[in-house]
Parts: sequence; structure tokens; C-alpha cells
Amino acid sequence: MRLAMRRIIVFVIWWHLTLPLASQSAWQQRFLNEVNSTALQRSSAATPKLLARLDGADTRAFLARCCPEVAQWPAADLAETLRQNLRAAEVVSGFSSEVNRSFFSFSLSEAEDVSHYENLWELWMRNHAELSNYSVGMDWVETNFYGFKPFQEPAYPKSMEEARERSAYFLLNSLRVDVGSPLYGDITVVLLPSFAHRVSVISPLDSGSWCGFCHQCFQMPTPSYSHNCSAWSGPEGLGTFQALDHLLGINEAYWATPEAFLHPLGRLLGSATFTGEDLVRYFEVMPAAKIEFPQHVKFVIAAFPSLFGTMRGERVRSWCRRNGWLLVWSLGLNVGFSTDHGMPHFWDVRHKGPFLCKQRLIDPVLLESAQLNATAASEDLTAFAASWRQMSSLRAATLQPEDFSAFWTALVANLSADLQIEAVRPSCDLDRCMGVTHRGCLCRMRSEDEGMRTWTV
Ligand SMILES: *[C@@H]1O[C@H](CO)[C@@H](O)[C@H](O)[C@H]1NC(C)=O
Ligand SMILES: *[C@@H]1O[C@H](CO)[C@@H](O)[C@H](O)[C@H]1NC(C)=O
Ligand SMILES: *[C@@H]1O[C@H](CO)[C@@H](O)[C@H](O)[C@H]1NC(C)=O
Ligand SMILES: *[C@@H]1O[C@H](CO)[C@@H](O)[C@H](O)[C@H]1NC(C)=O
Ligand SMILES: *[C@@H]1O[C@H](CO)[C@@H](O)[C@H](O)[C@H]1NC(C)=O
Ligand SMILES: *[C@@H]1O[C@H](CO)[C@@H](O)[C@H](O)[C@H]1NC(C)=O
Repeated sequence: MRLAMRRIIVFVIWWHLTLPLASQSAWQQRFLNEVNSTALQRSSAATPKLLARLDGADTRAFLARCCPEVAQWPAADLAETLRQNLRAAEVVSGFSSEVNRSFFSFSLSEAEDVSHYENLWELWMRNHAELSNYSVGMDWVETNFYGFKPFQEPAYPKSMEEARERSAYFLLNSLRVDVGSPLYGDITVVLLPSFAHRVSVISPLDSGSWCGFCHQCFQMPTPSYSHNCSAWSGPEGLGTFQALDHLLGINEAYWATPEAFLHPLGRLLGSATFTGEDLVRYFEVMPAAKIEFPQHVKFVIAAFPSLFGTMRGERVRSWCRRNGWLLVWSLGLNVGFSTDHGMPHFWDVRHKGPFLCKQRLIDPVLLESAQLNATAASEDLTAFAASWRQMSSLRAATLQPEDFSAFWTALVANLSADLQIEAVRPSCDLDRCMGVTHRGCLCRMRSEDEGMRTWTV
């Protein structure tokens, strides 16, 4: 009987993890297959170029500074480690809890209500947003560059179903920024890797900037980032998680600076710093599927300066608890401002940094409910709650970045080291593990483990 139960549970988990096809339309599956088959050819054709780049004198000199353990490795080993680290990098998006009707993301209230991660078109339709030539530019880039299904009337979806076959914008956190993507808002959603890897198309660059810089889709801020429109014409540059060697060369040629290649390399293989300018040079990740809550999200990151000790922070915690997600706090860029959209834009942080951004703390309250192979000590729960109340009253005055930074340091010192966590590494089970603490990978327990986690499907 026990064995039969166990088999059923294992089957249900297997079914649950292999189900995402149900989240994809036939059109999306076909589209993804086409992108993937081209990408596989492009990627293998680009491998010799990637190996040569890794053997470049500037790469080796850079590695000797940031990442001495790997600086002498043969290029083929470096390339394989780089691919593994790119696949282990978090696929993130997010939203702003500060504003209710940001043009670029849903609000906290909407997040609490929806059953899946909505893309911008769904959001705009639902909110009857005024569509401008910004949305015309986005429609152009999504159909002509990505190859997503055109709407019957360009830039004006007629139904939520039509809107849903587009994709939400995610990015690959290859800089290993602690807060995920500060540029999407103060709440970051990290996708379940196996899901992201199975359904995503990857762009070698931020398609919005490219559309603006090279195709006059929209007005770009000045002064501009260095870029080279003739380095890349667009079509056929897409990749997938199984075929991405070509993306690195395209990204570097387009942004026209070796930093585009070296800085993520140094973050993935060691712990180099990065600057605000690096944040624009990400790979964009477009999941061609419906991203369902809670199963396609691995965990959530909240920006400490914006949310710790606030009512909104309480709501984010409840949202995570209800969905069974771990919540991780991070100090993030801590630049001391957001904008009308509830996030700093790329250009606002361009001259900021260098950043290290590797400070994350597990919310001990959520650790209790997330069924991981660690539990929160009662002293940690007490200290955390005391800090929360303290920060809550401090917020009566206007706090500066240095106040947040000092408070964060004091909070870290008051908690056990078990709560400090870094982004997951390729050596951890990517789906089950949230990151690495001083005790090793912090992971969801397997159903077979004693004291087992009960799965609700
Ligand atoms: C957003 O909406 C919530 C109610 O859901 C309200 O409490 C809050 O004040 C609003 N925030 C802003 C910035 O308007
Ligand atoms: C791409 O093709 C490879 C080789 O057939 C396959 O293993 C992989 O799952 C495909 N990726 C996607 C996203 O379809
Ligand atoms: C977008 O709107 C701005 C301001 O109204 C205008 O200057 C620009 O030419 C428009 N661009 C396109 C592509 O329509
Ligand atoms: C821009 O790209 C083209 C095509 O690859 C190349 O010939 C040219 O040298 C590049 N220009 C700069 C300034 O990097
Ligand atoms: C850390 O603990 C000390 C001693 O209990 C307390 O005075 C201080 O307020 C705490 N600070 C934070 C940020 O938790
Ligand atoms: C948690 O589980 C993972 C994978 O099973 C293991 O590698 C890791 O050491 C465990 N961590 C702790 C703190 O027990």
C-alpha cells in the first residue's frame, strides 16, 4: 500500500513536471522547434569563434584577475563551464509594487489575482491602456525579429487569447545580480529552470534597445550606449538554452565593447564587479508558453530598500506563502530612487557602480513553509521580526541608501549564517535548489526523503 502510494506520488510529480506542453499552443511549439533547429546550426557554426575568443589575450588577462582558478583552463573546458553557468543563470522578470498602473508591469494587486504571469499585451488589454507608438514598435520587434504570431490588426490584439500567444519579457541573470532584475521592478520572479529551458527563445540582446537604436522604433535616451547597428541585421540570431554559442559573439559585436563579453564571464566564473552600463547588455529570454502560478516559478526575490518592514512587503510575503514559494531578500543596487514606472531605467543607472550585488537573505518565515532541507532557528525568527518592526518605524523618516545599507549589515549580523544565500551553481539540482548557503545547496526535499514534502498538484 505504501509502495503503491509512493508510485502514485512519483507518477503525479513526473506528470506535473512534464506537463508544460499543455501551457503551449500548437503554434508556439512549432515556432519554438523552428527557432531551435536554426539555432542548433548557428550555435555549432559559432563554436570555433567562441573558443578563439576565450583564448584571446584580453580574456586570459581578465580571467587571471577575476577568476584565477580557471584562468589557465583549455578553451574547450572554459566554454563548457560557461555554457553550464549560462544554463544555471536565473531566468528572471518582475514587477513594481510601488505603482499601480505602470505601463511596463502588472501591480501587486494584479499579481495577487492572476493565475499566470501576464505579458504586456494581456495587461494593456485588460487595463484598456492607451497604446502608443511604443507598442507599435514592440509589435514590430516581436513579429519581425522574434517571429511571434502577428495579431490580426498589427499592435491591436482583439482578444486576451490573441494577446496570450505573445511572451512576457524575461532576461538571463548572467551578471548574477542579487536582486534578479532591478530594472523590472522591486519584485523579481525566478522561473523554474526546466520549464524555462524547455519553452524559451533567447535573443542575443535587449530587443527593445536594438529596435530603438537601429530601427527607430521609439525615441531612445541620449547620450546613447555604444552600439553597432551594422554588426547584426537581426533575423536568425535567436537561440535556445540548448543552442547558445552564437549569442555571445553577436552580443559583443552589437554592443561594440569587449566588456559585453568579459563582465558576464567574470561574474559567471568568479566574482568580478559590474557597472550600471552592463545591465543593458543582457540576453532577453522569451518563454513561448503560458507561465502558470505557482508551478512555473521557483522562488521570488524582494528588494530590501523598497519592501522590508512595509505593508507591501507583508503582502509579498503572503503572496509567496500562498503559492509555496521561498522569498529571498536582497539589498540590490540600492541606488536610492525609482521612477514613475517604479523602477530605475537602464539609463538612470548607467553611470552607477561598480556593484558587487551578491547579498541575499532567506526570509526565515517563508523558509518554514517552503519545504526545503533547512529550517529556521527560533532565534532567527525572533530577530527577523524585531528588525521588521524596527525598520517599519524608521520608515516614518526618509531613509537614504546608506541607511538601508547599514541596517542590512546589522540585520545580517543579527541572523545566523544559515540565512545567507547566493545564486544557484551548476553543481546543484537547478529545479529543486534555490541557491547555495555555507552548508551547500538549499533544496526542496524530494518526496521520497523522510519527513517528506507533500505535493499538491
Ligand atoms: C495601489 O493600490 C492599493 C490598493 O490595492 C492602494 O492601497 C495603494 O495606495 C495604491 N498605490 C498607489 C501608489 O496608488
Ligand atoms: C532543441 O533541439 C535539441 C536537439 O534535438 C533538443 O534536445 C532540445 O530539447 C530542443 N530545444 C527546444 C527548446 O526545443
Ligand atoms: C513616435 O511618437 C513620437 C512623438 O509623438 C514621434 O516623434 C515619432 O516620430 C513616432 N515614431 C514612430 C515610429 O511613429
Ligand atoms: C560594426 O560592425 C561592422 C560589421 O561587423 C564592422 O565591419 C565594423 O568595424 C563595426 N564597427 C565598429 C565601430 O565596431
Ligand atoms: C541587532 O541586534 C541588536 C541587539 O539585540 C539590536 O539592538 C539591533 O537593533 C538589531 N538590529 C537589527 C537591524 O536587527
Ligand atoms: C540539501 O539537499 C541537497 C541535494 O539533495 C544536498 O546537496 C545539500 O547538501 C543539502 N543541504 C543541506 C543543508 O542539507
